[in-house]
Amino acid sequence: MANKRIGIMTTGGDCSGLNTAIQRIIDACNLRKWHAIGIKDGTDGLYENPPKTIDLTNNGNLFIQSHLAGSVLGNGNAGTTNFESAASTGKLAAFNKKLKKSSQELNLDALILIGGNGSLSLAHLYREIYSGLQLVCIPKTIDMDVPLTDKTIGFDTAVQQLVSYCDQLLMTARSHHRWFVVQTMGRDCGNLALNAGVAVNADAILIPEIKFDTNNLIKHIKQSKRDYGIIMVSEGISIRGHSGKPADMISRALNNANIPNRTAFPEHLQRAGDTVATDRILAAGFVDTAINAIESGETFVMTALQNGEYKTVSLNEFFRAGKQEKDPKIIGAMTSNAYVEPDNILLHIAADAGIYIGEKRK
Ligand code: F6P
Repeated sequence: MANKRIGIMTTGGDCSGLNTAIQRIIDACNLRKWHAIGIKDGTDGLYENPPKTIDLTNNGNLFIQSHLAGSVLGNGNAGTTNFESAASTGKLAAFNKKLKKSSQELNLDALILIGGNGSLSLAHLYREIYSGLQLVCIPKTIDMDVPLTDKTIGFDTAVQQLVSYCDQLLMTARSHHRWFVVQTMGRDCGNLALNAGVAVNADAILIPEIKFDTNNLIKHIKQSKRDYGIIMVSEGISIRGHSGKPADMISRALNNANIPNRTAFPEHLQRAGDTVATDRILAAGFVDTAINAIESGETFVMTALQNGEYKTVSLNEFFRAGKQEKDPKIIGAMTSNAYVEPDNILLHIAADAGIYIGEKRK
């Protein structure tokens, strides 16, 4: 099995834990005397002529500070050479053809694609691009909206970032007797807000999956024994008849009810921060699973953690398992999404702890 050529590519939004995964892949390749080739800036770099790459094997002392956030390879999605702009100019077929040509030029035996539900869905839908090689995907995202895996790289660190952020806010909140409406990321999935909200013992957690009643939220806050605290709001929630940022909408409603409050937006800090131990262990487990998959000839698979067990699932299974939704930016494309299910144990834990989580009945 000597002399295999393994490509590594990170795509979609960055998160903490990508460098850990990259470093582990390089180490695994070195052990096996395989060649590791980094593709820079995701599919943007793959699209370039010639494709933008970095030799990760023969870089001697190349030192990746693997605990730092971001990706040393870059994530792409920044330039004009991505799926969305190709689709918007009607050039998707030509774009995909060029990606296929590039991946053939690199002469790879396998490509490890580290991406979120969007990237993995596109890899499934446009599998022709990677038809000449073994494609093994590793799920990463702070949103934790990838079906069929209990964890994605970056999620635990994002939760920790929010916890540290809220811990600091609570000090000033207490001094000024006011509430903080903290808006989390997560797109239309509430996992990040729910986990961080339980961790900081927020007084309320509002997520897109559960309807809430603003009057009941206000009643709940007014009945609190404290006069300060955190109201965790996922960026995907909406209130009928209101527009703007969700945290601003909630803040206005609280103002109208004379509840002193401020909004706080941790924004991309949620994708930053030194990678926490559980994300590093997850990256190690996923990389080990990916390397085993390459050795046993698997292709078009995703690594997954299910009930404590590392395994692979086919991209087809991944795609079918999620809620399939139209990608608004790419005509004809769908993404496979996971959401907070009604039986999520954290919903029960939060409700039992007296946290307002919307109009969920026990
Ligand atoms: O999908 C990851 C994510 O951080 C979402 O939670 C958020 O809505 C989005 O990406 C932000 O993207 P951008 O990097 O374009 O601001």
